[in-house]
Amino acid sequence: MLVSTILILLSSAPAVLARPESYAVWAADSGIARRQGNGLDTSGNAVVSYEHGEFQWGLRQLFDLTGNKTYFDYIQTSIDNIVFDNGTVHGSYKVTDFVLDPLRTGPTFLYLFDQTQKAKYKTAADIFRGQLNSHPRTAQGQFWHKLKYSNQGWLDGVYMGEIFYAQYTKSFQPNNATAWADITSQFQLMFENTVQNATAPNGTGLLYHGYDFSHKQVWASPDRGHSPEVWDRALGWYSMALVDVPEIIPITNAGHTVILDILKTLAPRIRDAADSMTGAWWLVITQPGRAKNYFESSGTAMFVYSLLKAVRLGYVADGDGSIVAAAKKAYQYMVKNWVIPNTDGTMNWINTVIVGSLDTTGDFNYYVSQPTDLNDLKGLAAFVLASLEYERLST
Ligand SMILES: *[C@@H]1O[C@H](CO)[C@@H](O)[C@H](O)[C@H]1NC(C)=O
Ligand SMILES: *[C@@H]1O[C@H](CO)[C@@H](O)[C@H](O)[C@H]1NC(C)=O
Ligand SMILES: *[C@@H]1O[C@H](CO)[C@@H](O)[C@H](O)[C@H]1NC(C)=O
Ligand SMILES: *[C@@H]1O[C@H](CO)[C@@H](O)[C@H](O)[C@H]1NC(C)=O
Ligand SMILES: *[C@@H]1O[C@H](CO)[C@@H](O)[C@H](O)[C@H]1NC(C)=O
Repeated sequence: MLVSTILILLSSAPAVLARPESYAVWAADSGIARRQGNGLDTSGNAVVSYEHGEFQWGLRQLFDLTGNKTYFDYIQTSIDNIVFDNGTVHGSYKVTDFVLDPLRTGPTFLYLFDQTQKAKYKTAADIFRGQLNSHPRTAQGQFWHKLKYSNQGWLDGVYMGEIFYAQYTKSFQPNNATAWADITSQFQLMFENTVQNATAPNGTGLLYHGYDFSHKQVWASPDRGHSPEVWDRALGWYSMALVDVPEIIPITNAGHTVILDILKTLAPRIRDAADSMTGAWWLVITQPGRAKNYFESSGTAMFVYSLLKAVRLGYVADGDGSIVAAAKKAYQYMVKNWVIPNTDGTMNWINTVIVGSLDTTGDFNYYVSQPTDLNDLKGLAAFVLASLEYERLST
């Protein structure tokens, strides 16, 4: 009697995932179990979303590492949700909106084309590449973040646009010197227009969130038109682009060195901006310890990924081991504070701020008044990437 009751209880219990040993696998499988990043929004409508592209970047690596085809199939299904069989990109994407964000799903189009040779993925990639040909730019040549944010360069946009632009060029126009120089210049212009100078208040030598080349925005500084604060996630996006694009751009191209020089400059400054107690990074990096500021999880995960990858690939020398040590310390803080096990065997991820924009004041009070949410994919995907790098340290 007792035994049969237990058997009935067992067989009717919901499936419980065994907790994987790898945090990269655990985080990715939890996102997949929640149907995150699959080309659909929470109402089931197609959506072209950069955070899906970010997540797919991690799933690709997990597929390579584990050979588990579920990851590949998930990537393909996700893209098939936003690309029709004839290659048209839907999910509220319009070339003429001229937004850089959707282009972050483009590297997955190229990956699927490479893996399957299905023409629809090439057609979809051509549509994104076509957007760049007429995308509006500042007089210096920086892509506007969006048509509606005229003359503004945001750090975020470098991650959204340049990984796709570089991968497309590598695949289809490897000798297009204009394109390689253009990609390089996106990094350079952003750096020059936003880097904190030696006398900037609360200087870190890091990059402000963005700049307005026309100096019209309320937040634009009189000298270079930059926004007032260093926001962790914007710098996080840019730092991920700094380690992802050099793997794509040919080593023999001058731009490879230019991009790595920026990375070499910023990596130690990012290390030094971490909080000395916890190892994590503040939401508003330029206002450490100020009331309402907090340690933010997406930016922290992005820095861990970027620093570890920069050292692993030899892009940044770490003679005294201090860069890897800083990343490890932050990683351990993340696992302890922001990973929450669920009873169904999945994990939750907390403390990722939902948004940070330059569409209002761009000041401290703006950033700290934005809410965080549970399992925000921008942060969860960055944690997958950070975990992949962290777990490589011990193998
Ligand atoms: C493959 O990945 C899926 C998706 O996360 C997971 O549920 C499954 O257990 C994995 N299979 C193996 C053999 O590891
Ligand atoms: C591509 O297919 C979609 C869905 O079937 C259709 O709405 C669209 O008009 C087609 N576009 C072209 C250019 O054929
Ligand atoms: C090379 O890249 C430039 C800049 O994006 C573009 O305008 C041009 O059409 C490309 N050339 C070829 C042959 O595709
Ligand atoms: C340094 O940056 C601050 C903040 O943008 C600005 O007020 C100051 O004029 C700059 N100083 C120099 C020498 O460029
Ligand atoms: C400098 O940082 C301190 C500590 O977070 C903060 O209270 C102050 O407002 C900051 N000053 C400026 C000009 O950002």
